[in-house]
Amino acid sequence: MTSNLWNLKFLISRQKGDGPTKFQEFSLEIDPNEYVLDAVERVWAFQDRSLVFRHACHHSVCGACGMRVNGVEKLSCITRIRDITTNGSTVKVEPLRNFPVISDLSVDMGAMYARLESVGAKQILSLSIAPVSEDVYPAKNGKSEFSRLVDCIECGLCISACPVAATDADYLGPAPLAAAQLNGLADNPKTVLELVDSAEGVWRCHSAYECTAVCPSNVQPAWRIMDLRKQVIGQRIKNFFGK
Ligand code: SF4
Ligand code: FES
Repeated sequence: MTSNLWNLKFLISRQKGDGPTKFQEFSLEIDPNEYVLDAVERVWAFQDRSLVFRHACHHSVCGACGMRVNGVEKLSCITRIRDITTNGSTVKVEPLRNFPVISDLSVDMGAMYARLESVGAKQILSLSIAPVSEDVYPAKNGKSEFSRLVDCIECGLCISACPVAATDADYLGPAPLAAAQLNGLADNPKTVLELVDSAEGVWRCHSAYECTAVCPSNVQPAWRIMDLRKQVIGQRIKNFFGK
């Protein structure tokens, strides 16, 4: 009887903080209808308990499991093995780029969260804050004070794929600029306009569209950045005429 399992090698990036990166090879027999995150979990469970990675929901909602799989940014929980490789092959798994590595496949996304906050996409910082409701936080102009970028799961894939973020650590980045576009400049404090209408803001984008290509949530950050440019120019004209 032939087995439906595939024999694969997983080359997984191992790094602690600023230390050197090395790749460690793990062999697995795995059903190709499973997902890359299943393989990583199996390595952790049965071969190396020191492997560090992030995950939570397992169904593309929490945004925690972003990794580079064979060089491409993916949510590992929805990346089916048969879609990215063939039986007998090697799968390379690395942490997202353009974020500091904490350990192995886990990265520090603090800068992205802070930038989302700086453009008005408020993060819920404390569990002591009461559950968001219209009674507690009434909507202003139809938007809750805690409204987030629609559909964005804050996975960071767009920032990892962005060629500008790779060369400029101060660039606001696709997800925060997309959040600014969604919230609109007119409703936001002047500081948001200053942030996005700057050398590290909307004008720094090179229109590579890599962010849109990898976004698992159809946020279309590149399109939003182009639209935000129009909003910025419109706001400049209004400011010029004192409106
Ligand atoms: S815009 Fe898309 S790729 Fe970027 S953080 Fe949000 S969901 Fe992830
Ligand atoms: S584990 Fe939540 S998005 Fe993949």
